[in-house]
Amino acid sequence: MRIGETHYRTIWMEDDPGVIKVIDQRSLPFEFRIRALRSASDAYHAITHMVVRGAPLIGACAAFGLYLAAYRSKKDNWCEEVKEAGDSLVSARPTAVNLKYAVDLLMEKVECAGSRESMIKELFHLAHRFAEDEVIRSKKIGEHGLSLIQGIYEKTQGPVNILTHCNAGWLACVDYGTATAPIYLAHDQGIPVHVWVDETRPRNQGARLTAYELGEHGVPHTVIVDNAGGHLMQKGKVDLVIVGSDRTTRTGNVANKIGTYLKALAASDNGIPFYVALPSSSIDFKLAQGEEIEIENREDVEVSHMEGWDEETQKSASIRILPVGSRVVNPGFDVTPARLVSGLITEKGICDASEEGIRSMFGK
Ligand code: MRU
Repeated sequence: MRIGETHYRTIWMEDDPGVIKVIDQRSLPFEFRIRALRSASDAYHAITHMVVRGAPLIGACAAFGLYLAAYRSKKDNWCEEVKEAGDSLVSARPTAVNLKYAVDLLMEKVECAGSRESMIKELFHLAHRFAEDEVIRSKKIGEHGLSLIQGIYEKTQGPVNILTHCNAGWLACVDYGTATAPIYLAHDQGIPVHVWVDETRPRNQGARLTAYELGEHGVPHTVIVDNAGGHLMQKGKVDLVIVGSDRTTRTGNVANKIGTYLKALAASDNGIPFYVALPSSSIDFKLAQGEEIEIENREDVEVSHMEGWDEETQKSASIRILPVGSRVVNPGFDVTPARLVSGLITEKGICDASEEGIRSMFGK
């Protein structure tokens, strides 16, 4: 997607086969920085420190991390090293299933019986294929989701107001995004869209990342505090909610960034369609119950402090916003029950958030 006049993806390789490049999301929207990952451990740290974040992107980063593990492995112990890197990458963050999906998919296909060189070659190919497949999945989500926006526009003939939570945009994926993919497509086709962007405390992925990428693409948007969504819905200012997902059970329960559940409740109370856009790499076909999804507990400092840009020093700064000594709890995700979800926008089409709906798309 566009940053200024340049087309970027969030993860890529240039000429050096030992280096993966990523956009450092921690410094956006204030500074645009690219980081080099040279080892599986660099990929692990990029995920745990949220240099890269968003379910599909961390899956792709894990795939490239496996490749780097093979590329940097010692001559005598390469297969063990790759397997250990896989285990560690899966453990980097617990909620998004994409990490496990990526590592399992690649490890199933590589042969420890062959040579180290053949494994490097294969993982190089598989990691690139994986990232490319994520791009295709996002693009297809956009094409399917477009029909929802088109349908509303045909009825209202006015700008379609879409509310989104967190960043389920191209920065969270490899390209296009999930929740944003239909929005970009609608905008590019001349359908007037306007996006209500939840700021998404504590890390403000909405205010910092979604607003940034929508702005770079020229999509009209307004940032709101997390608590404003319900009020705007009551006032008839939201036509549609689209969010992403970090893990969706095979029965359609959706884990996504903390606060998503409250938006689903408000949407349901106001009769507003609430859709979840997700690639199949975010579906956990093994899980049925939402309560089985592990919810990441994040550091207190994300709540006790706010990070922003100090206009005076022209540097980023972190300031305390709580009394010293106040306790903090910081769950990173919540689970929206399937009954509150109007439908799932997947790469195969739009389906009910139910076991039957998901089976009708993926046949598993
Ligand atoms: O903690 P994060 O920033 O990795 O959480 C990301 C989200 O919750 C996104 O909404 C998400 O991964 C949806 S998929 C694009």
